[in-house]
Amino acid sequence: MGVSHEPLVDSFGRTVRDLRISVTDRCNFRCTYCMPAEGMQWLPRSEVLTFEEIERLARLFVERFGVDGIRLTGGEPTVRAHLPVLVGKLATIRLPDGRRPDLALTTNGSALRHLAHELRDAGLARVNISLDTLRRDRFLQMTRRDELDRVLDGIEAAKEAGFAPVKLNTVVQRGVNDDEIVDLARFGREAGVEVRFIEFMPLDADGHWHPEAVVGQDEIVAAIAAEFALRPVAARGAAPADSWEYVDGRGTVGVIPSVTKPFCGDCDRVRLTAEGQFRTCLFATSEHDLLSLLRNGADDEAIAAEIRRAVGGKWAGHQINQVSFVRPRRTMSQIGG
Ligand code: GTP
Ligand code: 5AD
Ligand code: SF4
Repeated sequence: MGVSHEPLVDSFGRTVRDLRISVTDRCNFRCTYCMPAEGMQWLPRSEVLTFEEIERLARLFVERFGVDGIRLTGGEPTVRAHLPVLVGKLATIRLPDGRRPDLALTTNGSALRHLAHELRDAGLARVNISLDTLRRDRFLQMTRRDELDRVLDGIEAAKEAGFAPVKLNTVVQRGVNDDEIVDLARFGREAGVEVRFIEFMPLDADGHWHPEAVVGQDEIVAAIAAEFALRPVAARGAAPADSWEYVDGRGTVGVIPSVTKPFCGDCDRVRLTAEGQFRTCLFATSEHDLLSLLRNGADDEAIAAEIRRAVGGKWAGHQINQVSFVRPRRTMSQIGG
């Protein structure tokens, strides 16, 4: 079989272009919508993909399948020791046509003051940072850690290091932080960063998700538009966020409408968990064990065949809004967001 670019296409005609790699299941926060307060069972170190294994799989996806976006996630990716070393390895990978894949990170921001420059120097192109509230007491309630100031400083550090754009991710939960939508939008305008409000999905560890806790895109946009005039930005392609620009020119704001307007029909992403399990959907209920293949000495051809088989079986999308919906066994922190 040839080793030139062979796109990975699923049975619904969607091409995989984006690989999200979780580098650890651990996190220094305990966000209520993602993890329980206590009792997470961490993976033993030996079951987590090594940097060499991650690089080998990433190379396969980029060089063979033409995947042109790699995003590192967690848990919290910055708690993995020597993360810049991994970024450095991934930054050497090129597409068959010589282009660099987009290399990005999703983080809670708490470690960026000391890591942002090093990550940037290693070749990271972009960071998305979670920020759900601007109130210290609420931050403590939502993340179970008193680290709002460190995260705000981390956002500054990311800008200073030259990351552009810096995006903020805000999961909106009714009765928890929905009264801060306008404050957070204003914060984004003033800080020169794009805030993306995310509809709350049923991936929390405590099982507290219920449909009434979701604040939908229309309501979010109406709240912001009542304060700042907005106009929609055309077509988002395969990206999960819909965007609006502020009419006064002060940047853009996004909404990720996973629940009220699912974007599965345009989905171009696949995921690798920290323990080397390949998932073709955030909500997949089955996984493909690439770790065992790697550790049993499989060659690239065999691994590529397994990936192709898995993608061939990718489903049309999640069914959060239907009675047939089955929650995945894993929480967001174990999947990687
Ligand atoms: P950009 O490339 O900057 O657009 O990043 P991104 O939005 O793809 O990545 P990020 O990790 O910042 O994701 C933000 C949020 O989007 C996640 O926390 C999820 O809530 C949601 N999201 C990301 N990917 C998917 C997906 O495949 N399906 C669904 N339903 N939601 C997703
Ligand atoms: N619903 C929506 N988004 C979530 N995230 C974590 N848990 C959920 C959930 N239940 C988001 C975080 C972060 C990303 C990794 O996942 O806010 O931006
Ligand atoms: Fe893709 Fe699954 Fe997310 Fe839908 S829910 S966008 S199919 S990963």
